[in-house]
Amino acid sequence: MSRWRLFWLTLLMGVGCVAQALELTPQEQAGKRLYREGLASGDAQVSARVGAADILVPASVVPCASCHGADGTGRPEGGVRPPALNWQRLTRGAGEHRVNGRQYPAYTEASLARVIQEGRDPAGNVLDPAMPRFVLSMADQRNLTAYLKRLAEDRDPGVEERQLRIGTLLPQSGPLAGAARVVGAVLQGSIERINQQGGIHGRQLQLTVVDPGPDRTSAEQALKRLIEQERVFALLSPLAPALGTALPPMLERSGVPMIGALSLPAASVQSRLIFEPLPGVREQLLSLADYAAERLGVKEQSALILYSGAEQAALADVLQQGLHQEGWRALRREAYEARQPLTDGVQSVFFLGDGAGLARLTESLLSAGQTPYLFAASSQVAGEVANVPAQWSQRLFLAYPFVPGDWTEEGRAALAEVRKNQGLGGQQTLLQVTAYCSLQLLVEGLKRAGRDASREKLLAALEGVYGFDTGLTPPLSFGPGRRQGLSRAHVVGVELPGPRFHPQ
Ligand code: HEC
Repeated sequence: MSRWRLFWLTLLMGVGCVAQALELTPQEQAGKRLYREGLASGDAQVSARVGAADILVPASVVPCASCHGADGTGRPEGGVRPPALNWQRLTRGAGEHRVNGRQYPAYTEASLARVIQEGRDPAGNVLDPAMPRFVLSMADQRNLTAYLKRLAEDRDPGVEERQLRIGTLLPQSGPLAGAARVVGAVLQGSIERINQQGGIHGRQLQLTVVDPGPDRTSAEQALKRLIEQERVFALLSPLAPALGTALPPMLERSGVPMIGALSLPAASVQSRLIFEPLPGVREQLLSLADYAAERLGVKEQSALILYSGAEQAALADVLQQGLHQEGWRALRREAYEARQPLTDGVQSVFFLGDGAGLARLTESLLSAGQTPYLFAASSQVAGEVANVPAQWSQRLFLAYPFVPGDWTEEGRAALAEVRKNQGLGGQQTLLQVTAYCSLQLLVEGLKRAGRDASREKLLAALEGVYGFDTGLTPPLSFGPGRRQGLSRAHVVGVELPGPRFHPQ
């Protein structure tokens, strides 16, 4: 017990010392908005002329950041490269500058305004039409210039000279407290390992933990605190299902990336900011459905999705859509607690609920003399599988995001070290591995993003992760629009009594 108390105390101590953030003046902030979103203060319309034909479009369609990057380092995207917009570089020295084959003396405020509005550099060279010509009021131009002077030092929140702050939400009490301790221990243990090895690009990772409290309101406040007061760079493996659908828009509003498991089915969350290392329950059940169709040949026969509770109802919806897309036609869904489900003639049951529910279901099926194939996510029911009657031997199939065969020597050793340092056993392995992989993914993304870290760079770096070996799971891959590292899970047949598990 004392170990855990110490753990929470040391974590919470970090919370008080919020580092000084770079404060922008109102003028610089207005310039930042123009730079990032193409909007003037008071939401007045700003326009830009684009292309050789000088077509007039709202600047919000072509904000500076979309080409020069939110951090001003320039995004090469075929054709002419948008140069880095670093005030020092632009205005430095008396000599000639060379960019994209143009040669010009240092910029001044006046010549900078001219290049942005008319597309001519200080030497009078006409810029490539890839750079729009912006129609700016004097106030817009002043704001923009003020911000361009600060752009290079306007780091994202959480990035300090020697430290990088990440945050998580872990409840200290309530039904998830035990799981939260496991997640917290794995994150803390892994972070210590990384910091001992010198951190990432010279920065030590610092984890800030906030308790999401009992309900949605308290969880929203906790997340708000992490973002606005603690100013964390990214959110890692939060355990706050009460946030529900509020999570993505809250992250969206402040551009905070998150790596970790979602409590919602990923199919109903469309956020470019959220990266999930392991497949969710929906993907696990779809993997079972693939198996049922291909290996058991039951796709054309009657199938039933059984679920309990409002949370599972949402999951049942997305699962039903997914199965429908894959050609399951004789499919119904039913809540199974209200009354005895209609299972006559049903060949396959996709079960969404907990282990106790599964035990009750098998009992009632058995008394009706039915033994349809049963499919469930291991994370939901694994604890009770031993109590499933022997009639379901080789007729019960569970999905697992990873199996022991995925564990390499290194992966096993790394997790063992974290477990040993944190006094963790093998309990809640799925949670441990999810937290461990989330952190590994963050570290990989940060390494790739470089010393000049920004949230946008992290997102781009994560998107480029392909075939990433965690040592504990199949290789993870992401991509544009792909936010789950693994789209499918392992199917494992259960032999009863026992149980004995047979990866298929
Ligand atoms: C659609 C892409 C795009 C957008 C949007 C865009 N730029 Fe550019 N910008 C470029 C390209 C490409 C160049 C290089 C053109 C060349 O060298 O001929 C450039 C050049 C510049 C230069 C000249 C730098 C130098 O070294 O001479 C400045 C300054 C600049 N942009 C500022 C801005 C600002 C400020 C905004 C927003 C108000 C903006 N740009 C929006 C693509 C863009």
